[in-house]
Amino acid sequence: MFLRMPHISFLALFWGATALALPSKSPTSSVPSCRYALEYSQEGVLKDPESFISDFLYWEGKFHQNNVSYNTENGCSYDGTQIDWNTGEATVKHSFSAASKESLQIMLYAQAISGSQCAARWLSPDKPSAAADIAVSVLEKKLTAYLNFNETYPGFGGFLPWFTSDEQDLSPTWDWVNRVPALDNGELLWAVYGAIQALETSPNESYRELAKEWSKWLDYTKSTAAKMFYAGDGNVCTVMDIANQSWPVNDPRQRYTCESNSTLDDPYEGELFTWWLYFYSDLSAQDKELLWEVKRPQLVSVEYNMGGVGPITVQQGWWFSSHEQWKVLEMPYYDVDLVRRLFTNAERARTCNSVVTSTPGMFASVNNITNTTSGELLGYISAAGIPSISSQTEQEHDVITPYSVFPTLLVDQQVGLAWLRNMLIGKKMQNPYGSTESTRVDGTGVSALLTWDSKVTTVNALLGGVQDLVRQGLKKEGLYNAFINVTEREYSRVFKDLKGEDINLCLPKESIPDTGLVDFTSCS
Ligand SMILES: *[C@@H]1O[C@H](CO)[C@@H](O)[C@H](O)[C@H]1NC(C)=O
Ligand SMILES: *[C@@H]1O[C@H](CO)[C@@H](O)[C@H](O)[C@H]1NC(C)=O
Ligand SMILES: *[C@@H]1O[C@H](CO)[C@@H](O)[C@H](O)[C@H]1NC(C)=O
Ligand SMILES: *[C@@H]1O[C@H](CO)[C@@H](O)[C@H](O)[C@H]1NC(C)=O
Ligand SMILES: *[C@@H]1O[C@H](CO)[C@@H](O)[C@H](O)[C@H]1NC(C)=O
Ligand SMILES: *[C@@H]1O[C@H](CO)[C@@H](O)[C@H](O)[C@H]1NC(C)=O
Ligand SMILES: *[C@@H]1O[C@H](CO)[C@@H](O)[C@H](O)[C@H]1NC(C)=O
Ligand SMILES: *[C@@H]1O[C@H](CO)[C@@H](O)[C@H](O)[C@H]1NC(C)=O
Repeated sequence: MFLRMPHISFLALFWGATALALPSKSPTSSVPSCRYALEYSQEGVLKDPESFISDFLYWEGKFHQNNVSYNTENGCSYDGTQIDWNTGEATVKHSFSAASKESLQIMLYAQAISGSQCAARWLSPDKPSAAADIAVSVLEKKLTAYLNFNETYPGFGGFLPWFTSDEQDLSPTWDWVNRVPALDNGELLWAVYGAIQALETSPNESYRELAKEWSKWLDYTKSTAAKMFYAGDGNVCTVMDIANQSWPVNDPRQRYTCESNSTLDDPYEGELFTWWLYFYSDLSAQDKELLWEVKRPQLVSVEYNMGGVGPITVQQGWWFSSHEQWKVLEMPYYDVDLVRRLFTNAERARTCNSVVTSTPGMFASVNNITNTTSGELLGYISAAGIPSISSQTEQEHDVITPYSVFPTLLVDQQVGLAWLRNMLIGKKMQNPYGSTESTRVDGTGVSALLTWDSKVTTVNALLGGVQDLVRQGLKKEGLYNAFINVTEREYSRVFKDLKGEDINLCLPKESIPDTGLVDFTSCS
């Protein structure tokens, strides 16, 4: 190991120099060093974001491996994998996954198919021209897995529960037998919609054929969504209990029951499922309007005002975790000027709050650090964000995560990258598969883990999500104006004059303290 590393960094320097000497050569052909973040200053990233992005995508792409992030046999994702505390090599994988992780994988493939150089850098840096075919071959297997799942467990109506994917056939995890969530599936549906757009518009006929096959799966969910999830009076169930997952949706014995009184009425990522029901279900026009009415009380205007920064008008968060902004990766919300401005304000608040509170990174729901004695993760921290502009004010702020930057990247790429770099330079925050899950603010621990959520949200944000593909599809279907109208209507009811639009987004001021943690030896 120790003999190998200097050799690799020599190569990296060599290729770097070559790339500089040959302006005609694409920078994507160079092999960056694993710990590339240390080679950039903040000014360097701001001045030349492209090379930092190129290095970032190269190493994040190492996550895309069999038995690490997905199963090459069936094309389906794994939630992620733990890595060795010392070396950083993959150890114990999470053999389960969910529709939300699937959505991140599919969004990435959608952009690879539509020709994104960034997606190719992630998926196939050695041969970017092969990226689309790689994506298509995984999507073929994935579709087979989904169709087989539907055949074995027709009670899910085409949707996915949390599932295990380490065998050829998917099956519900033990705690999701006869249960299915709406939110994650909303994320999956629009990602597939985007991928179908990319396939459909390809000059390759076999891609267009695959689009047709995926459309059958997607169209099937249009016929089952309301039957399964709609509880009447505008209410959508967060989690449905299924009488028997082996019975078809239309079986006279089949029953769907709301698991609790909790309904999917959030104005955050859960809204992706609302749109599916609004556009494609057979609900009455009145029920479709009610879908939006029940959500209204949750769409709230608040002002960030702390440490001399503000007031900044933002949409109140649940916790104000970056995770909550997922919907803007998938649908063209920013086409509504008010929403784009409001979500830019959110990043003013997010970035400046971390400066005001002397935090070296930003907050998002994420896995806690590794207990180095037991080797186990200390649980999942959901309640991480900004309490002063959230409805849930009981929060925990000891851990930050690189993926907190994904919504920032969508509105100001350079500032987002500066924050990303600031977290990546922390001890152990890079490993042979790119970024590490999370680190304590005080630098005393990290989460020796890799997940789709904490890694590929950021990658997708750099690709612009699938907003462009979904916009194109909605226009083709004649649904785009309705999307804009409803979004505009709902947001302009609550938000009139936005305060704080003249405030600059903030750049990081603090560093993660070095408390003696040693970098992963496979990435030093
Ligand atoms: C897959 O990963 C597991 C750990 O999650 C490991 O035990 C197993 O050997 C790996 N299999 C292959 C084929 O690499
Ligand atoms: C079309 O896609 C198929 C399947 O990925 C691939 O094998 C083939 O080379 C492609 N054809 C062209 C002309 O690109
Ligand atoms: C899913 O299974 C149901 C019930 O067997 C079937 O009617 C439906 O066509 C299947 N959906 C797809 C996309 O194959
Ligand atoms: C669910 O349905 C399957 C197939 O009809 C049957 O074998 C199984 O016993 C049923 N389970 C329950 C709990 O009713
Ligand atoms: C749901 O709400 C009803 C009426 O408000 C209440 O009686 C019931 O206990 C609630 N159920 C659960 C599971 O919270
Ligand atoms: C870490 O693991 C050790 C050994 O299992 C245990 O004694 C200790 O309480 C754990 N620490 C925390 C913070 O959970
Ligand atoms: C995270 O770990 C810290 C110890 O580092 C512990 O104090 C805290 O309670 C944990 N939080 C959760 C939600 O597990
Ligand atoms: C959207 O709003 C415009 C202007 O209010 C209106 O003319 C148009 O008919 C609406 N379109 C749809 C599809 O709702």
